[in-house]
Amino acid sequence: MTASATRRRAVVTGAARGIGAAVAARLAKDGVDVLVTDLDGAAAARTAAAIGARSAPLDVTDPDAVQELLGAGTYDILVNNAGCDDFGWFTETTPQRWRHVLAVNVEGVLACTRAVLPAMQQARYGRIVTVTSEAGRIGSKGNAVYAAAKAAVIGFGKSIARENARYGITVNCVAPGPTETPMVQAIRDSGPHGERMLTAMIAGTQLGRLGTAEEIAAGVCFLASPEASYVTAETLGVSGGMGLGG
Ligand SMILES: NC(=O)c1ccc[n+]([C@@H]2O[C@H](COP(=O)([O-])OP(=O)(O)OC[C@H]3O[C@@H](n4cnc5c(N)ncnc54)[C@H](O)[C@@H]3O)[C@@H](O)[C@H]2O)c1
Repeated sequence: MTASATRRRAVVTGAARGIGAAVAARLAKDGVDVLVTDLDGAAAARTAAAIGARSAPLDVTDPDAVQELLGAGTYDILVNNAGCDDFGWFTETTPQRWRHVLAVNVEGVLACTRAVLPAMQQARYGRIVTVTSEAGRIGSKGNAVYAAAKAAVIGFGKSIARENARYGITVNCVAPGPTETPMVQAIRDSGPHGERMLTAMIAGTQLGRLGTAEEIAAGVCFLASPEASYVTAETLGVSGGMGLGG
């Protein structure tokens, strides 16, 4: 099981900023031909230009657009990174808000995975890494639907790992803990309640601090590398020990 003899090709979703941008930068530094995709196409283009990568606008909730863009290429690596949360006590949320969180965090992963799999199967090689969250393993107050979505992609990934092991394709997740990105900045900016939530999240880690996007990218890029050839159906916590809970 080896990567293609030519330069490895990767697509990273939601890669204009935050964790996705750090993953794209690290892959590009490692010599991978990276396609930076994001809902915000202009930001994706800026991020890509800074790291010598290509870019394309892509809304992962649009399965036709996903199929058109990703189904047209052949990739060694798919990083399902695009995600969004939506804070609120569950009883205060609405079905419309659930649907958006599920569309981005679950359906986006399904659509991108389906689009790249046929070419990976043909090549008999592939690395699929999905950025889930410790919320999907231990739950998260004020973020129940997001936690449900992040748990769903862990189950999905294990199933795709089972179906595709015979093709030399590995499928794994990375579960970040609270990480300093614009997503976390938005929680901070939401006021005293957001500050309290963030403090509680940091207290839930053993290391007592936020992670950096580069620390998460290191975990993703290990699982995306040819050397991670005997790792599949796993979820790697990169969360300062948050996975212990309590
Ligand atoms: N930051 C954290 O503390 C943290 C913790 C656990 C998991 N995560 C997960 O890590 C991933 C990256 O998070 P981040 O903190 O970098 O977030 P971020 O909000 O900083 O960046 C997310 C990126 O995804 C893009 N995006 C949103 N909706 C999209 C869509 N429909 N199609 C394509 N792109 C879309 C945004 O434009 C943005 O560029 C997400 O899956 C998130 O759930 C983050």
